[in-house]
Amino acid sequence: MSQSNETSPSAWLDGHLAPVPDEIDAAGLPVEGALPPELTGRYFRNGPNPLPGTPSAHWFTGAGMVHGVRLRDGRAEWYRNRWVRTTELTDGAPFVRADGSFDHAAVPANTHVVPHAGRILALVETGLPYELTPELDTVGPCDFGGLLTGGMTAHPKEDPVTGELLFFGYGLVPPYLTYHRLSADGRLVESREVEVPGPTMMHDFAITANHVVWLDLPVVFDMALARRGGGMPFRWDDGYGARLGVMPRAGGPARWFEVDPCYVFHVGNAYEDDAGRVVVDGVRYRPEEFTAFWPSIGGPSAGTPATGGAPVSAAATGHARLHRWTLDPATGAVKEEPIDDRAVEFPTHDETRTGRPHRYLYTVARDAIVKHDLRSGSSAALDLGADLAPGEAVFVPAEGARAEDEGWLLSIVSDRAGHGSELLVLDAADLSRTASVRLPRRVPAGFHGSWIPDPAT
Ligand SMILES: [Fe+2]
Repeated sequence: MSQSNETSPSAWLDGHLAPVPDEIDAAGLPVEGALPPELTGRYFRNGPNPLPGTPSAHWFTGAGMVHGVRLRDGRAEWYRNRWVRTTELTDGAPFVRADGSFDHAAVPANTHVVPHAGRILALVETGLPYELTPELDTVGPCDFGGLLTGGMTAHPKEDPVTGELLFFGYGLVPPYLTYHRLSADGRLVESREVEVPGPTMMHDFAITANHVVWLDLPVVFDMALARRGGGMPFRWDDGYGARLGVMPRAGGPARWFEVDPCYVFHVGNAYEDDAGRVVVDGVRYRPEEFTAFWPSIGGPSAGTPATGGAPVSAAATGHARLHRWTLDPATGAVKEEPIDDRAVEFPTHDETRTGRPHRYLYTVARDAIVKHDLRSGSSAALDLGADLAPGEAVFVPAEGARAEDEGWLLSIVSDRAGHGSELLVLDAADLSRTASVRLPRRVPAGFHGSWIPDPAT
């Protein structure tokens, strides 16, 4: 998301972001280098891809399409892409029904795709997850036996120790925030309302071994924008304030920490340090950077009456940077510090360490994949050149890995001119190229994906 501020009024429909018009299948993909045989599974990646003739008013609202690459025993067996067949796509079902109620199945399901407890779920934060088959067919919306009645964040967190999937949903009407927990076997076993001042666009959150961390930040839902229809009904609001909340997973209220105003789409990871402080690493937009970025993908522009006094800076580039917040529940103190001044987005980590101390984070810059060493404070990058745009780099640990960076990074890299794409496999230790799978078509730059290993036999 850091790279789209330079551009036409519908930049999310052009070049390497432009949607593809159809679904295809291809077998026996050409591979350069050697795919590690233990990478046997599927890499699925979701993103917005409006149907031909129905361009979206905002990058975030196009119909979801999942691109899949099947790897097995050193071969790239297939590629296929499928729209997620939500009722919004197949029936044109409206999110707001005639009686004013919300249809949480009528959503684009375009943001992430994650496995949990034998299900593969396509996610968008406004609605219910949609279950997919391993062949990318749509099974249908999933409400966990009728227990989930609102949205599910596209960034749930699987606890690597308990196997639970923690997530939340935010509402445009009360309750504005609800915490949920799926058991390791996929049952919705807890739903808990969390008090926040109002409805905001809460895209991500963090977990630690004992806490959930909330990002209550000043990008607010605006009913007047919603009534205009078609566009993005969230805007920066200087008056909302900015706070992070630390809530015990075992129960009890959140403790809130005021922070410098900012927006955060994505957390890298969080953990409790030896002193009991909660450390949160995320990609932070300063206010003027958010308000420069937001209109570039279809959000309301700064300077219009609806923007709530958004800060405007001619120098802003719309970029975000990696940042660390350290929250001390014993004293209420907050420490903020920049981690790296490079413009990046889409932070990832070794998910066997989610909620536990990490040394490395991976991000993408405009034309590079970056590895951040939080212990040494250094970073390294694989520069791809100005013509190529990398997607989120998903870390896959090697079997029996001892070092945190022993494994691979998977990223779909596309030509900015819109000609072609490859699935790049890097050695995470040194960012060297392990292999590259040439894909049979251009894959639009999208959002998030997952490596879904084959079940152990
Ligand atoms: Fe996201």
